[in-house]
Amino acid sequence: MNSIAQQLKTRFEKAFTSAFGESYADTDLMLAPAGNPKFGDFQCNAAMSLGKKLGKPPRAIASTIIENLDIADICETPEIAGPGFINLKLKPAYLEAQVSAIAADTRLGIEPVKTPQRVVIDFSSPNIAKEMHVGHLRSTIIGDAIARTLEFQGHDVIRINHIGDWGTQFGMLIAYLREVHPEALTTADALDLGDLVAFYRKAKQRFDADETFKETARQEVVKLQAGAEDTRRAWKLLCDQSRREFQVIYDLLDIKLTERGESFYNPLLSAVVADLTELGLLVESDGAKCVFVEGFTNKEGEPLPLIVQKTDGGYNYATTDLAAIRYRIQNDKAKRIIYVTDSGQANHFAQVFAVARKAGWIPEDVEIVHVPFGLVLGEEGKRLKTRSGEAVRLQDLLDEAVVRTRQDLEERLKTEERQETEEFIANVSRTVGLSAVKYADLSQNRASNYIFSYDKMLALQGNTAPYMLYAYVRVQGIRRKGEINFDNLDAGAKVILQSDAELVLAKHLLQFNEVVNAVAGDLLPNRICQYLFELSQKFNQFFEQCPVLKADEPLRTSRLILCDLTARSLKLGLELLGIQVLERM
Ligand code: ARG
Repeated sequence: MNSIAQQLKTRFEKAFTSAFGESYADTDLMLAPAGNPKFGDFQCNAAMSLGKKLGKPPRAIASTIIENLDIADICETPEIAGPGFINLKLKPAYLEAQVSAIAADTRLGIEPVKTPQRVVIDFSSPNIAKEMHVGHLRSTIIGDAIARTLEFQGHDVIRINHIGDWGTQFGMLIAYLREVHPEALTTADALDLGDLVAFYRKAKQRFDADETFKETARQEVVKLQAGAEDTRRAWKLLCDQSRREFQVIYDLLDIKLTERGESFYNPLLSAVVADLTELGLLVESDGAKCVFVEGFTNKEGEPLPLIVQKTDGGYNYATTDLAAIRYRIQNDKAKRIIYVTDSGQANHFAQVFAVARKAGWIPEDVEIVHVPFGLVLGEEGKRLKTRSGEAVRLQDLLDEAVVRTRQDLEERLKTEERQETEEFIANVSRTVGLSAVKYADLSQNRASNYIFSYDKMLALQGNTAPYMLYAYVRVQGIRRKGEINFDNLDAGAKVILQSDAELVLAKHLLQFNEVVNAVAGDLLPNRICQYLFELSQKFNQFFEQCPVLKADEPLRTSRLILCDLTARSLKLGLELLGIQVLERM
């Protein structure tokens, strides 16, 4: 279904052509939601610039536009205000028909896109043998929301976990493993190394303190590259251990990803360098192989190279990313490639994209974007740390959210004198706690730093997950109380929009389509949060002002339709954010 703005646009385009001729078919209509509801719902501000162009008074232009405008089924008679603004007020009958139409549609009027694309989203991407940190958590939550939104639009999304599973640090880890668990390299299929981060730290200490160990580590790198069986086995054990730990977090957060780590591209790296050489783009600088692209300079203003092969012959993070771009375009046939990482990597991606472009590896019809996000800060505005100053473990952070939710819930149950089963309490705490963490992250514009505060994210009021979940639960409460089957409301029932609260809610319900499209474009999931927040507020106002179950027919059914449509919009919106609704809480 076309959005209201889209429908108006079509009508205005027609009016412009018939009033001013074909050459005005794609004039900027300057059609926008009204700045102030006093002036109606939409306004067209094109008369001013057009007046200048045509040398006519803008108000006269505005009248000509209106004379040619066939819009009586959508709006009241348009009004001209000030220098030549055209104000439009939507007709209740039109809104009623639109609301009925989306209510009858399982997709709430949001049609799948006409030309689905193959999209690769590179997100989460933690590093083996290192802690998955809050930055990876942000990437995971934001990447998943973007993936869900594009999937809902009908795109064919490949969710890639570009795990850091390759590099010289593995020499050190394997050499250390050989010392402390020699059996791991020959017999063991699985091994519990316990805390991998502590293991990493010990290996590093060993590496820094002992020259012979350093040499062994270097040899392990060579053996790993060459595919020596025992070294490979050790590498795989390390990766499996990390993988199991990452998976716990993914299961908790309901995240689906396909792992295709850095090691995957290892066999493709030499070809990247060879092709860059052939293209004449490679420059040797101090023995390293580099590519220079315009516009990249260091602090001193000197040209900044992208190093694709180091003096010792090793490849870089950037080389792998170049190989990944080629693979995603050639093999995955991606038309859009999206990278979700912290903004600290913005330069890296800009430079890698520029090199790939210069090499001619990114066809015109492929879009490649970095989706950056800010830092996660503690309440004092500094990087999030534990009290003792260590990095926060994700598992602990998520567990804490669930524990706090449970405390809040148990208190509430006491004051409300409610008895609930342990199963209910556990389920609600878990869903609300984890949703709160996700929602708090997603509700911010991702480009800004975000302050992690349990108190804020768990608050029952405000732009929080609990507030949104409550609005949904409230509708389910109406359903239970009135013994309503929403799937079975009188099929012929009309939506009636009488009071202001109903009209305001209806207009908001009709905007969901546009919001989803906007998120698919600029990849800012916070738009969905803002939309849902306003929806919940408008619904609550409606609910306060308009009796539902006590209303007389046909108003009662109409209001039930509005309730159900609100609940379905909330459910869908939250689903796009990776959040499950609850029937009761
Ligand atoms: N593993 C990297 C990190 O932890 C993120 C990888 C992002 N994706 C990529 N294609 N470079 O910072």
